[in-house]
Amino acid sequence: MCAVPARAQWGPRVIPEPTDGLKDAYKDYFKIGVAVNNRNVTDPDQIKVVLREFNSITAENAMKPQPTEPKKGEFNWEDADRIANFCRENGIKMRGHTLMWHSQIGTWMYQDEKGNLLPKEEFYANMKHHIQAIVNRYKDVVYCWDVVNEAVADSPVWPGRPELRDSPMYKIAGEEFIYKAFEYAHEADPNALLFYNDYNDAEPAKSQRIYNLVKRMKDAGVPVDGIGMQAHYNVYGPSMKEVDDAITLYSTIVNHIHLTELDIRVNEDMGGGLRFRQGASQVADWEKTLQEDQYKNLFKVLRKHKDVIDCVTFWNVSDKDSWLGVNNYPLLFDENYKVKRAYNLVKQFNPEMDNAVVLEDFKPSELNQPGQEYPMVNSQGYARFKVNAPKATSVIVSLGLGGTGGTVLHKAEDGSWMGTTDGPMDEGFHYYHLTVDGGVLNDPGTNNYYGSTRWESGIEIPAHDADFYAMKNVPHGKVQQVLFWSNSTNQVRTAWVYTPPEYDKNKKKYPVLYLQHGWGENEYAWWNQGHANLIMDNLIASGKIEPFIVVMTYGMTNEGFRPGQMPAARPAAAPGAGAPGAAPQARPARPAGGMGMMMNNGFEAVLCDELVPYVDANFRTIAKRESRAMAGLSMGGMETHTITLARPEVFAWFGLLSGGTYNPEEIQEAGLDNKKVKGIFVGCGSKEGPDQIRSAAQKLQEAGYNAKGYVSEGTAHEFLTWRRCLYEMAPMLFK
Ligand code: XIL
Repeated sequence: MCAVPARAQWGPRVIPEPTDGLKDAYKDYFKIGVAVNNRNVTDPDQIKVVLREFNSITAENAMKPQPTEPKKGEFNWEDADRIANFCRENGIKMRGHTLMWHSQIGTWMYQDEKGNLLPKEEFYANMKHHIQAIVNRYKDVVYCWDVVNEAVADSPVWPGRPELRDSPMYKIAGEEFIYKAFEYAHEADPNALLFYNDYNDAEPAKSQRIYNLVKRMKDAGVPVDGIGMQAHYNVYGPSMKEVDDAITLYSTIVNHIHLTELDIRVNEDMGGGLRFRQGASQVADWEKTLQEDQYKNLFKVLRKHKDVIDCVTFWNVSDKDSWLGVNNYPLLFDENYKVKRAYNLVKQFNPEMDNAVVLEDFKPSELNQPGQEYPMVNSQGYARFKVNAPKATSVIVSLGLGGTGGTVLHKAEDGSWMGTTDGPMDEGFHYYHLTVDGGVLNDPGTNNYYGSTRWESGIEIPAHDADFYAMKNVPHGKVQQVLFWSNSTNQVRTAWVYTPPEYDKNKKKYPVLYLQHGWGENEYAWWNQGHANLIMDNLIASGKIEPFIVVMTYGMTNEGFRPGQMPAARPAAAPGAGAPGAAPQARPARPAGGMGMMMNNGFEAVLCDELVPYVDANFRTIAKRESRAMAGLSMGGMETHTITLARPEVFAWFGLLSGGTYNPEEIQEAGLDNKKVKGIFVGCGSKEGPDQIRSAAQKLQEAGYNAKGYVSEGTAHEFLTWRRCLYEMAPMLFK
């Protein structure tokens, strides 16, 4: 099982074009089918997608009763033949859809010209002639048929009322017309698998009626082989328990279950309801997250039932083709035939995770507010969330800022919203927030930490090496707030200054490390979620370092940014924490933000001309460059890089933590060399593309620099990486 890096605070990812299809990913499970229209089988670009992804095809409309026989005895095979020939040419077998349906059927089937219902025998003769004509015509290419479609009544059905739809066919013949349709089809092609097909197929009451009907058919000896679950679902329902229960129920009576018309729309309508064009004209990220969750969980349930499920058909190729309209965003391919993130969540499943056992040893996260049970963390690193929001319709836990992904919570029996991450999370600290019906909120269960340009909720997955930043019974230094006047920005500014435990007990002077946060954080981050003071205390107590002062100020990295806005240039993001099982992508250890922004944000003047003189004047520092270090994480690393090279008279020790690298040439161009630069530390997490850190450190060492490269195992662009970096960097400073 691979651990899950929490989403770093960077934006949307570019999803590459697939090279193989869903059908390949599911070859050991079931066929993946699609309903096609004329364009899908004639446009070369669309054909490419169809042939790459699918190995079962349904005609969306072309084989229905009305299109094939609009008038009695007048057949129109053109569209059906085109699709059938496409399948013949490409060696794909078809699901036939559909022989008897109350919709899209010529009225001649069941009524006379005056609109009177036909006598039963005449209706049966019509039905038989139609069914047998079409079944015979496509016998060679159609391997199964939806014989009767949507004949069960929708909920609610009042006691004493028929369980079947009150269609003209039902009025003429009652339930028997269904039996007859199956018999005629079986007569025409005894080899075809014959299905009863319906929607709201996972709704408990209707699924019971569907079961009852098929049970009566079986008992009467009707040749019914399978149940088609149309699966026109939405992002709010059905629940996966309902789907699981329905499949379990159906599997007690048939050996074949197909999902015949799968789509998951973003509004609350379901099934064949014709209010389907309502809904979002712009689909919000949180709605996409709900859809991803629904698709991902649905396929997990389907994989579990692979013994009885043998085909899963999407109703249309892309949102552009969808009968629900593009606004409903229902499929895995968007309106430009590009795959959505949901596609990868369906496709890149990890079979081991399907059977993963989550240990029920959850404990409150150590960052929780007093007395709060949730969020919880278990010994494997899974996180479990619980939120009370009785009237909410959706609650999502998101890690990081913007984009999609996260853990979607579901209503628990006590009415609260609960959810567990799909997999273990990376060890260490993660920011998160809740999205409740589209509104972004913090979790009242836990403390807040400034990151992603706002005070976010925080959760801590205990790290195996947590001892180095643990609060222990050792002498502790102080972290004090200083307020200093800044001429360049015309305001009072804040810094937090760590002085070592012995500072107040002697008259010694100390070197100073200026330690910067990243793009989304502020001056609180390093000693709150970073535990910089505890790391220093522990290092000093164990004699691993000589004491020094650490100054933490706001690096002006997100002034002018609001949550949701991003710096102009940013690297490709790490995978979301909501996507456990997905292989972590390497993310280069480059800081975000354009160089221009770094140079122009005014921080160089604040730091070098205002804060450094203030600290030297107000603390017992060794006020010379050899006793000053600057280090920063992520964008703070980029600031460090820029400022150390621009102001060589100020700092002699440099540290970049997931914040890029130095090369000997640029150092030389800045008028420095391996004597003037006393030491360089570069580090990052192993999930951030660590090779450039290793090779940069090696190059610097070869050029005679006192350089150290460090890679934090199993971590991404997050605080455990930087805690470890500080722990590794501190012993080399000021030696
Ligand atoms: C839909 C088609 O997608 C539309 O193009 C057509 O206008 C109406 O029918 N249940 C079914 C499908 O069994 O045949 C329906 O297909 C969708 C609902």
